[in-house]
Amino acid sequence: MADSRIDSAALAISAGELVAFPTETVYGLGADACNDAAIAKIFAAKGRPSDHPLIVHVANPSGVSYFAESVPAFAHKLIATFWPGPLTVILPRRPSIARAAAGGQDSIGLRCPSHPMALSLLRACEKLDVHGVAAPSANRFGRVSPTSAAHVRDEFDTSLMILDGGDCDVGIESAIIDCTRGAPVLLRHGMLTFKELETACGEPLLMPEALSSNAPRASGTLESHYAPSAKVHIISTQDAQKFQPAAGQVLYRLPATAGQAAHELFAKLRELDQTGVTDIFVTRPPADAAWAGVRDRLTRASA
Ligand code: TXA
Ligand code: MG
Repeated sequence: MADSRIDSAALAISAGELVAFPTETVYGLGADACNDAAIAKIFAAKGRPSDHPLIVHVANPSGVSYFAESVPAFAHKLIATFWPGPLTVILPRRPSIARAAAGGQDSIGLRCPSHPMALSLLRACEKLDVHGVAAPSANRFGRVSPTSAAHVRDEFDTSLMILDGGDCDVGIESAIIDCTRGAPVLLRHGMLTFKELETACGEPLLMPEALSSNAPRASGTLESHYAPSAKVHIISTQDAQKFQPAAGQVLYRLPATAGQAAHELFAKLRELDQTGVTDIFVTRPPADAAWAGVRDRLTRASA
């Protein structure tokens, strides 16, 4: 995708500016991962505490060695299986690199996204010697992640440069696997299922509960994350059958498949929120593994 918009976006990033860009999961608010002043602009724009680490996006798997000190075998397998795609791996950080982007942690979260526009941007950045683009979801701290350029525009002031790549396919954020603890640990559910991830690792995938203490915290694991202004309630499908909305209440029935539900969930929550309702009632997602990511985001939205 040789496109002048992408070239100017890459130039802006190499000059220390912020650029919002689409990925297959959600839109990101990007900056040069190795430019501490640019990283500070991300934290300021989002209103996010600066000790919360950001995900660094790379153009290809070979970008990993620029940021990571070592890569365990199971992480190599994960990368080979799912990149480019909706998976972030946390790896030991090379001490001199991207300290601010990592929120001061001695690890670094890395991801190679599959959205063609994201890949083009990352390749154009690489040509300008920008080896990684740090990008949290392009929303203010604690709010629902944006899945369209219009959502991003609603979050930030008008001067922000936004690459418009249409609606995000996946619709919820990447799965995050911590690869710094000797065994893989799933920190955040995404659309890749536990089984798929574990199979690719070639060894048991752990949940953070299985570890003792001081596991790294993902801000996506804060309880009230992804919350719209309206109160979100999860109700059974039986209750939804006989649901009679009172003033200010609305019912949202999840679509039939987890893929469809993830794709539209954040857009629906935003859309319903903007109608000024006070309560959004959402049908409970099925209990099976394919729905883990959607269940997780909905549970947090309703916390
Ligand atoms: O799909 C996604 O992952 C999107 C797109 C833009 O790539 N990004 C995203 O970024 O969701 P953000 O910042 O909203 O969420 C990143 C999560 C946070 O919960 C953060 O704490 C965790 O990743 N994280 C990043 N680096 C980490 C590290 N070194 N150790 C522990 N957690 C880390
Ligand atoms: Mg986020």
